[in-house]
Amino acid sequence: MQSSSKAAGGNGDEKHLVCVTGAGSFIGSWVVKELLLRGYRVRGTARDPADRKNAHLLALDGAEERLTLCRANVLHYDGLHDVFRGCHGVFHVASPVSNDPKLVPTAVEGTRNVINAAADAGVRRVVFTSSYGAVHMDPNRSPDTVLDESCWSDYDYCKQTGNLYCCAKMMAEVVATEEAAKRGLELAVVVPAVTIGPSLQQTLNYSTDHVARFLTGAKPAYQNTVTGYIDVRDVARAHALVYEHPDARGHRYLCVSAVMHRTDFVGLLRDLYPQYPVTAKYEDDGKPTASPYRFSNQRLRDLGLEFTDMRTSFYDTVICLQSRGHIPVIVPRQRACL
Ligand SMILES: NC(=O)c1ccc[n+]([C@@H]2O[C@H](COP(=O)([O-])OP(=O)(O)OC[C@H]3O[C@@H](n4cnc5c(N)ncnc54)[C@H](OP(=O)(O)O)[C@@H]3O)[C@@H](O)[C@H]2O)c1
Repeated sequence: MQSSSKAAGGNGDEKHLVCVTGAGSFIGSWVVKELLLRGYRVRGTARDPADRKNAHLLALDGAEERLTLCRANVLHYDGLHDVFRGCHGVFHVASPVSNDPKLVPTAVEGTRNVINAAADAGVRRVVFTSSYGAVHMDPNRSPDTVLDESCWSDYDYCKQTGNLYCCAKMMAEVVATEEAAKRGLELAVVVPAVTIGPSLQQTLNYSTDHVARFLTGAKPAYQNTVTGYIDVRDVARAHALVYEHPDARGHRYLCVSAVMHRTDFVGLLRDLYPQYPVTAKYEDDGKPTASPYRFSNQRLRDLGLEFTDMRTSFYDTVICLQSRGHIPVIVPRQRACL
């Protein structure tokens, strides 16, 4: 362990001990920050807590008093069990965001280990971070269908099209649900769309790289496709809300703020930041223009989540990419405005 976990002093708001797997990840870091803000004592896991890429965690408000970083690999049950002992709740965020077939077991068997280690260690409630890749990838879904928590991606379609990340997240969510039911654990599932917004860590993750590549001009053209987006700060709040709400157990929560055609995505980036070489070239695939599907985020709204608007999210994403040196700072002729 990197630092000792001490009781928070004197504010009377201190809550119980929880663990976040993958604490140094893009989403995990914001979940840790949100939980510290809410007064929890937090154990965060990383495969190498001493790695400089996790240093930002120890600088978070409340970290000195209430955050402990612990070594754990989700493929090793024993280490997880040790870390979860004494925790009331576990947020299972850790999972590679990749289509590499070799990494599928990390998502699936890693989740099985997490649920069983949590149950054996006496944990009461688990929040599992799924993905809308487990929900929206169904070519046969009628255009009239409203995407909500009842939807699942078509596993065979994902496999045939090489979207092994979606396959892995589907399998992992099923494993989490089945194992938690068997073991009597309370489980709530957050299902985020492609997650953007400012990062707390220095390193670039898959979803913010998706934005960076358009700004650097690495993308010569854009595709006929639609994508769901969500702000990382909303994802973190969603995790805390479903953890704290007693009725959330046994449910999925779709965490999507907007569904945009790539034309609107590049248009928004160009409008906010006209100084960057964001492509205007459309890669015509000969198919009709894909229509943004309807979706419902009502379940999270009912828990009190107010979603960040996409203009603010993309604005903040770019500011952060600049400040971390992932894209050059180009001075605009006119300042970007929201
Ligand atoms: N980013 C998105 O757009 C998005 C959207 C929907 C859902 N999600 C889900 O949200 C979660 C986090 O995504 P992210 O983009 O924030 O991730 P990220 O920044 O790419 O980080 C991946 C995390 O997975 C951990 N990890 C990988 N293999 C591991 C192993 N064998 N044992 C323990 N930890 C391991 C890494 O830990 P180390 O630091 O030890 O390497 C790291 O913390 C994932 O479950 C992902 O499926 C992400």
